[in-house]
Amino acid sequence: MVGAGTAARHPPRCVPPGRGAAAVRDDRPRSAALRAVSDLHVRFADNRRIVEDLRPEHPDDWLIVAGDVGEFVEDITWALGLLRERFAQVVWAPGNHELWTPPDDPVRLRGAHRYDHLVRLCRELGVHTPEDPYPVWRGAGGPVAVAPLFVLYDYTFRVPAAHTKEQSLAYAEEAGVVCSDEFLLHPDPYPSREAWCAARVAATEARLAALPDDLDTVLVNHFPLIREPTQVLRFPEFAQWCGTSATDRWPVRYRAAEVVYGHLHIPRLLHKDGVPHREVSLGYPREWRQRPGTPGRPVRILTERTAPPRDGAAAAGSGPDDAQGRRGLR
Ligand SMILES: [Fe+2]
Ligand SMILES: [Fe+2]
Repeated sequence: MVGAGTAARHPPRCVPPGRGAAAVRDDRPRSAALRAVSDLHVRFADNRRIVEDLRPEHPDDWLIVAGDVGEFVEDITWALGLLRERFAQVVWAPGNHELWTPPDDPVRLRGAHRYDHLVRLCRELGVHTPEDPYPVWRGAGGPVAVAPLFVLYDYTFRVPAAHTKEQSLAYAEEAGVVCSDEFLLHPDPYPSREAWCAARVAATEARLAALPDDLDTVLVNHFPLIREPTQVLRFPEFAQWCGTSATDRWPVRYRAAEVVYGHLHIPRLLHKDGVPHREVSLGYPREWRQRPGTPGRPVRILTERTAPPRDGAAAAGSGPDDAQGRRGLR
């Protein structure tokens, strides 16, 4: 329940049995959870208000923020800083909007330089980024390494009739579909967005392959890791800006207990090879106003996995260790 966090920070009231216990109602969750949201798009005033009201349901909840917080560096740091003050841990993966260089943002950095700048700011805030050791969630559904990824897209989710990126882009243009990334997401210093994507795929794959074999993961990426979620896009030509076929086997190969993504603004849960893939976006006001439920309420993940922590030392809410550190103990 959004807004319950303030109450949750107070210790439970203790009422002796038989002395009015029935009058005390405690709706707070009994255990901390790993929760996720994406596409907060705080440039919209109504979305900003949702973020201002966004609080944990349990004081030890972690929050995954799967990209598209905003476009302006000031907005991104405002939102992540606020959430970091409230949640026990915040894990961020960048969206395409964070990587835009809007003409009216005083921060003029482009491409990888902009990404590096955001990583630095996140570290100052205490927010986990794709460049940091993957924190290990040991609460309900754990232990899992929570791995925020940044792998971009490379136009391999192209229009079925197209054989090349150029053909696919031409089909999309004919259909009147062009992603703003083409004008605002610069690949500097790489020659193209697909070259940047290839570098990110290689670097990320090495990180994931280095995880301990007996540690499952939650893979967090702004774009879906598989193509299937894009099959319900209203404009199928948009899929080419939504991921890369290079990550198709990652959920299985890297033991994903769950994949968290956003970008499509189509919240849903689907399974592939037994792995849940969960889209957790808020989206634009015109989108979330049409949906039932509380907009922007972070989605509890790992709900399909109820195995107790391996060593009985659950310690939900204790400080995170990291997957690399755990590996070092083996
Ligand atoms: Fe978005
Ligand atoms: Fe996006």
